[in-house]
Amino acid sequence: MTAIKAPRGPAVVILSRAALFLVAAVAAAQTLPDGPGKDTFENVCGVCHSPVTVIGQHKTKSEWKSKVNEMLQQQTDVAPADVDTIIDYLAKNFPPEKININKADAGAMETALGISAKDAAAIVEYRQANGNFKSIDDLKKVPGVDAAKIEADKDLLEFE
Ligand code: HEC
Repeated sequence: MTAIKAPRGPAVVILSRAALFLVAAVAAAQTLPDGPGKDTFENVCGVCHSPVTVIGQHKTKSEWKSKVNEMLQQQTDVAPADVDTIIDYLAKNFPPEKININKADAGAMETALGISAKDAAAIVEYRQANGNFKSIDDLKKVPGVDAAKIEADKDLLEFE
C-alpha cells in the first residue's frame, strides 16, 4: 500500500499546483488590460491572490489609493513609486462606472455618485417634473444638490 501511495502523493500535489498556476496565468493574460504599470501591479498585487481579483471592480483614484494602501499595509518593502504606479494603473483601467442621469433610479445615483439618498431623490423628482437633463448645468439647478460634488463627478455623468 505505502509503496503505491508514496510516489503518488507529491506527483498529485505538483500537478494540481501546475494546473492552478496555469488557470491563473491564462485568466490574467486574457483579462487584465495592458498598459503602463501592469507588470508592477501583477508582481506586487499577485503575491497573496491572483491579480485578476480587481476585474469587475470600479473605483475612483482616491478609492483605489485607499484599497492599495489597505492591501499593502504589511508589505513595507514596496517602493512608494511602485505604489503610485499601481494606483495609476488601477485608476485608469478600473474606473467608476458611468451613470446615465436621465435613466438611473435614485439608488443607483446614490451609489455611483456617493450622494445622499435625499439628493438622489431630489434629482429624480426634478427630472420627473421638468424632463430630461441636457447638461451638468441643468443638474446643478436641482434644489438642494451639492453643485461642487456634481462638478467633481462630471466625468461619470451621461445625459444621452
Ligand atoms: C499581503 C497579502 C495581500 C497583498 C500583497 C494584496 N492583497 Fe488584496 N487581498 C488580500 C486578502 C487576504 C484579501 C481577501 C480579504 C479581504 O477582502 O480583505 C484580498 C482581497 C482583495 C480584493 C477583493 C476584496 C476587496 O477588498 O475589494 C481586491 C480588489 C484586492 N485584494 C486588491 C489588491 C491589490 C490592488 C493589491 C496590490 C496593491 C493587493 N490586493 C495585494 C491580501 C493581499
